[in-house]
Amino acid sequence: MSTSHTAKTAMILDCDTGVDDTMAIMLACLAPEIELVGVTTIWGNVHTPIATRNTLNILAMCGKGDVPVAHGAEGPSNGDIADPAYFVHGDDGQGNKGMKANYGKPVDMSAAEFIVDACRKRPGEIELVPVGPLTNIALALQLEPNLPNLVRGVTVMGGTALTPGNVSPVAEANIWHDPEAADVVFRAQWPITMVGLDVTMKVLLEPKHFEKMNNGGGISKYMARITEFYSDFYEKYTYNKPLTTMHDAIAVALAAGLVKAKVSPCVNVEVDITNGPGRGQTVCDLRGVYMNFPPQEGAHCYVPLELEDGLPDYFTNLLASAGDPAVDVS
Ligand code: RIB
Ligand code: CA
Repeated sequence: MSTSHTAKTAMILDCDTGVDDTMAIMLACLAPEIELVGVTTIWGNVHTPIATRNTLNILAMCGKGDVPVAHGAEGPSNGDIADPAYFVHGDDGQGNKGMKANYGKPVDMSAAEFIVDACRKRPGEIELVPVGPLTNIALALQLEPNLPNLVRGVTVMGGTALTPGNVSPVAEANIWHDPEAADVVFRAQWPITMVGLDVTMKVLLEPKHFEKMNNGGGISKYMARITEFYSDFYEKYTYNKPLTTMHDAIAVALAAGLVKAKVSPCVNVEVDITNGPGRGQTVCDLRGVYMNFPPQEGAHCYVPLELEDGLPDYFTNLLASAGDPAVDVS
């Protein structure tokens, strides 16, 4: 873990605010190394209005009610109906234990408009960190084709190179929900880091981390409370042990340099947008593995395959010392 930083990383998070998105937002709010410029919302784990509500509530809880939230697209680029993953994140996207009240309001701009506006105001400074389907980012590119020259880079939670998919044998959920948008985003000429299942399935919260959270202040107790449902899903259907993934928080941590990749080749990546069994697959050219990944013409996508240790401890210590919520979270 690397926590000695001088400049803060300015980031816009794009979330389908379920449980691990909440971890990502809390990390971005609490880590002193991060300046959270705004949060845009998208469907995926839940429908977009629920993602917006959860995002506003979590920011208020963390005392960051002044961070702008922009409501995003409500379905995939091809016009299909959104099909949320309530069975993983609960009906409210907060493990069926979210707060009753509603805090704050979204800004009067769409997610894509907000992203373009913020990046035009601070050219070259902002890292986009989409941790849901890539619909809003594709729309922002449509609105401002020069966006790749206005951002610092893009760190996506999504895709997988060598690890099985989690929605189909080869596709990860965020890419699978809107492969056409992902295709647009991966083709755009900006530096992308694809934080895929190759690393996110291996950075895990264990029971000792939840014990720590439950011994902390109200913010960390809330995180532990809403994660129970999500943890049960992973124990039952994935690990057969009490282990919990932190997918989206890992993308935030990598984007801010809180954790570093030990292996992260820059390779060509293509998204499968066919309607066959490969739909939504991120096809990563890792053929250079035996030669320490020599440069590939046109490659602009980094694919982390192995990370430093320490993020679950860092995250739970940060949460446990965060104190009590700024608002009532019952
Ligand atoms: O595949 C994991 C991803 O899908 C995470 O971003 C999770 O929040 C869901 O959106
Ligand atoms: Ca997500």
